[in-house]
Amino acid sequence: MTRKIRGEISGMVSEVLIGDHLDSEICRSLERFDESLMFVSKGIPDPLRERISRIEGADRTYHLDDGELCKTIETYNNLVLMLLERNFPRSGLISYAGGGTLGDLAGFLSSTYKRGTPLHAIPTTLLAQVDSAIGGKNGLNASSVKNAIGTFHVPGMIFCDISVLNEKVLADGLSEVVKYGMIGDPSILEILESLTRENLIEDRGSLLALVEKSVSLKMKMVSEDLYDRKGIRSTLNFGHTIGHAIESATSNMVSHGRAVAGGMILESVIGEIAGIASEKYSGFIKRLLVDLGIELPRIRREDADRILSYIGNDKKVENGNIILNVPVSPGIPVGVKLEPHDFRKLLQEAILEYEK
Ligand SMILES: NC(=O)c1ccc[n+]([C@@H]2O[C@H](COP(=O)([O-])OP(=O)(O)OC[C@H]3O[C@@H](n4cnc5c(N)ncnc54)[C@H](O)[C@@H]3O)[C@@H](O)[C@H]2O)c1
Repeated sequence: MTRKIRGEISGMVSEVLIGDHLDSEICRSLERFDESLMFVSKGIPDPLRERISRIEGADRTYHLDDGELCKTIETYNNLVLMLLERNFPRSGLISYAGGGTLGDLAGFLSSTYKRGTPLHAIPTTLLAQVDSAIGGKNGLNASSVKNAIGTFHVPGMIFCDISVLNEKVLADGLSEVVKYGMIGDPSILEILESLTRENLIEDRGSLLALVEKSVSLKMKMVSEDLYDRKGIRSTLNFGHTIGHAIESATSNMVSHGRAVAGGMILESVIGEIAGIASEKYSGFIKRLLVDLGIELPRIRREDADRILSYIGNDKKVENGNIILNVPVSPGIPVGVKLEPHDFRKLLQEAILEYEK
């Protein structure tokens, strides 16, 4: 059964359909537009790429390389030139089928081309379904800084079709699903505990429930705080302050989800040492992530300064202080400010615990 989650984000309606095989729903959504164009990731398996291309029509489908290297001003510039050459109108629909990297690129393009065109999303990784496609953020990288440039542009429709998921694209998203359990909906943790990575793809009911619960929580948070100014959306940053720094410090050799997994464990340990957490749950998170087959990044004590230097460029630094969002206990997040000196000490201690 198809589930629908509707959010009103800063006056813009965003509708998420969650189901198993949503081709006809995607097809119907195109009927409202005189012109449309879909960017499809070259990284998705050929049969799926052909299936999606058939929905949009070959002449309106544009196949793109994805990954962090597509989130550049050069790629963006080439796509703007291509749209101009096609006389693509401002009222035309831009859609994408791909992971979070293609979504960030297509989102930025549709947000800025002729000052903004409608956007639809077909996220094809679990991470994109539960996280990056929801909430209107997009971004391009500049130099080695991730998402250095970006806007807010909310997709009108998002199709979370679990039939496009496979074993390869679960791991990174599962870290984010664990995060949702920790910051807002502990029932997610109960479902995750009853699963292994191997049986998750077969257990369609649990997979649908995890996507639905995660999307609901994120949609609720971004509807209340699109621009990240009320301290609601920032709770989604649990694991990401350190996680983003791990990604940058390793030149993205460690994927987003693995970096967030490491970040959640380290930030939880910091929360425990600093007395922010009311109970010890870092061991639980670590065990859950490992049981779900997520390969944790290797981090050593001597990496602390490198991690800290990358955090300096992050938006989660305020007046020189580092902002962490850690749960007090599973489901209850809190934001804390730490001076760099204190943070460095705590991080070094946390890494010792992490290495055990
Ligand atoms: N805008 C936001 O709010 C937000 C939130 C979280 C993450 N992000 C961004 O999202 C990106 C990470 O997204 P991602 O994890 O989806 O990475 P990704 O887009 O790089 O996709 C990962 C890999 O999976 C492949 N792939 C995609 N769908 C597939 C499928 N169905 N089957 C097999 N392979 C498939 C891709 O080709 C790619 O090689 C990062 O750039 C991160 O910064 C953005």
